[in-house]
Amino acid sequence: MKALILGGAGYIGSHVCLEFLAAGHHVTVFDNLSSGTKENIFPEEQFVEGDIMDYDALSQEMRKGYDVVVHLAAFKAAGESMLVPEKYARNNIAGTINVLNAMVEHGVKYFVFSSSAAVYGEPSYLPIDEKHPTNPENFYGFTKLEIERILAWYDKLKGIRYAALRYFNAAGYDPQGRVRGLEKNPANLLPVIMEVAAGKRKELQVFGNDYPTKDGTGIRDYVHVSDLAIGHVAALNYMKKNDASLIVNLGSEEGLSVLEILEQARRITGKPIPAIITARRPGDPAKLVAGSQLAQKLLGWKARYSDVETLVKTSWNVYLPHCK
Ligand code: WQD
Repeated sequence: MKALILGGAGYIGSHVCLEFLAAGHHVTVFDNLSSGTKENIFPEEQFVEGDIMDYDALSQEMRKGYDVVVHLAAFKAAGESMLVPEKYARNNIAGTINVLNAMVEHGVKYFVFSSSAAVYGEPSYLPIDEKHPTNPENFYGFTKLEIERILAWYDKLKGIRYAALRYFNAAGYDPQGRVRGLEKNPANLLPVIMEVAAGKRKELQVFGNDYPTKDGTGIRDYVHVSDLAIGHVAALNYMKKNDASLIVNLGSEEGLSVLEILEQARRITGKPIPAIITARRPGDPAKLVAGSQLAQKLLGWKARYSDVETLVKTSWNVYLPHCK
């Protein structure tokens, strides 16, 4: 099938492209390179530099005929979304409406959407399944939930089948080392730890060690980005086979604390990785772990690369050459 992958030059997008290529799909990357990098564009791909805020550019590209659009071109820093919601409303919501309207104009049927565990907010039970209440605590999560609600209408009124994939904490890099681009100004835990290990950042700030968890630090469900990418291909297959939309969690179902990851990173990299305990980050829940049984049932999907050893080793494989 012909796939248009929005944000395909980014961290998650480039891994999704690899899996779409491996599945035999034709891949065109549409990316404004605001956070993605040309280093992540593979020779087998077509590349179009463009912005989802530019309707005409989207429409002109989709006129060429596509079977599926995969949308990974969103801003994703939850903390920033609380400071500049206008940036997130514009790009994440208005931008996605541009994408959907261009799909309607050019008869593109399938839409794979990068949603997020952030739609759930503070968990009322764990592990979190898809029936869990959705009360996002940050504007980023709100934008993802709003788009999911719009998708339900485009399914009903325009026959666009969508897969909303609620990622938990994406981490790690391609085990074959094919993705080399570093994230620009990362805020997520593992790339921050890697920057400290590589001497690109002075120290790790541990955002609170007084949570009601085994070692007092936050627990999250880290899922390898290749596992996520495989889930995107499986979701497209599901929509094609069943002519139906779906919303599923993609998580490892394992919880790791900040200190557990830090300890593994020190062991694997052999670097000291200095860290200081600071105040909690507002809005951070103590623990977030996915229930991914639905993805297993509908997609036959299970995380295979999401053990902490693989997450850290594959990340260090990309950061080590940048050691100062
Ligand atoms: C993980 C843990 C922090 C950085 C974010 C987005 C969410 C989703 C996943 C896309 C927490 C701690 C972190 C640091 C730290 N993104 N931490 N020091 O907040 O769970 O989720 O990524 O869908 O929308 O919000 O990820 O990596 O920021 O934090 O102590 O420098 O690491 O407190 O416990 P988070 P994170």
